[in-house]
Amino acid sequence: MAPPVTVYEVGPRDGLQNEARTVPPGDKLALVRALAEAGLRRIEATSFVSPRWIPQLADAAELTAALPRAEGVSYVVLVPNAKGLERLAEALASAGPGHAPVDAAVFLSASESHSRRNINKGIAEALDELAALVPAALARGLRVRGYVSTVWGCPYEGRVDPAQAVEIAHRLLVLGCHQVSLGDTIGVGTPSQTRDIVRRALAGARPEELALHMHDTRGTALANVLVGLEEGLTTFDSSIGGLGGCPYAPGASGNLATEDLVYMLHGMGLETGIDWERLVAAGALAQRLVGRRLPGKALQAELARAGAGA
Ligand code: HMG
Ligand code: MG
Repeated sequence: MAPPVTVYEVGPRDGLQNEARTVPPGDKLALVRALAEAGLRRIEATSFVSPRWIPQLADAAELTAALPRAEGVSYVVLVPNAKGLERLAEALASAGPGHAPVDAAVFLSASESHSRRNINKGIAEALDELAALVPAALARGLRVRGYVSTVWGCPYEGRVDPAQAVEIAHRLLVLGCHQVSLGDTIGVGTPSQTRDIVRRALAGARPEELALHMHDTRGTALANVLVGLEEGLTTFDSSIGGLGGCPYAPGASGNLATEDLVYMLHGMGLETGIDWERLVAAGALAQRLVGRRLPGKALQAELARAGAGA
């Protein structure tokens, strides 16, 4: 039986896309393996976006073809457009029939200015593109997840209309996405706002069709997750050690750290299927690979405790 809460790991994609140091593919695969060994079952591995826009993920094809098969683990990769889908299909074909299970994820923003900076298109144009892309991916036998970014606020426009953001999420479900992740791309959300957004979203979606993707930029990510749990959501995105952010959202460092999320969930008696010691080992590896101290609080507390011989 699946654990009651799914921790959806985005570090290898959302984390590494925003790190100054480009991690070589072999090291990325070591991180993916460490995450799978820790018990993470949904791992977002990479992104078939333009390597000119995100050079850190230029090895998407090589990495996807080499993803390790592991019991119960499936991977997700971002595809922004038809070209990305074609590149993904080629990577899977080159890996042969024994490749690990891989889903696709599509994304767009809830605010016009972020959309233009992130994908060079406005929201209407992006929705038109996804109206063709999602069915094309489904036709290739891929499951498709959707992302809506800047739901809680936009780095360029400030306030975002929650009704518009939620309508975009519902459109993605109608197109055939099995789940839509609502993103607080710049980490501005607070609990009352989260309750409002989640309730609006649940008016047109089942709880398992929604996920929260919180950034901890202002320290509110776990409070927002708690509201999501109270409202019945069961999937939460996080990034090992708190790697990454979004390169087109200045100041948006700090995806919610997987260790912080898992520490809270386990402390609440909620099962995730994740092994704490191995998760901390994966966080320590992520920190070594990017060569900087990661912001995850639980990770740092555990490493300090280990360093002190506790
Ligand atoms: P564009 O430049 O507008 O694309 O980029 P274009 O269609 O005009 O094509 C220009 C050139 O790029 C062409 O090559 C295309 O072939 C090529 P040329 O003919 O000049 O040699 N191209 C591609 N090459 C490889 N792969 C592709 C691809 N597409 C076009 N897929 C595009 C449009 C969307 C590709 C670009 O804007 C892009 O890659 N943006 C990156 C956006 C991104 O990755 N952002 C981060 C992910 S979203 C996120 O992190 C938020 C999230 O975590 C949730 C949250 O936190 O809230 C999901
Ligand atoms: Mg993100």
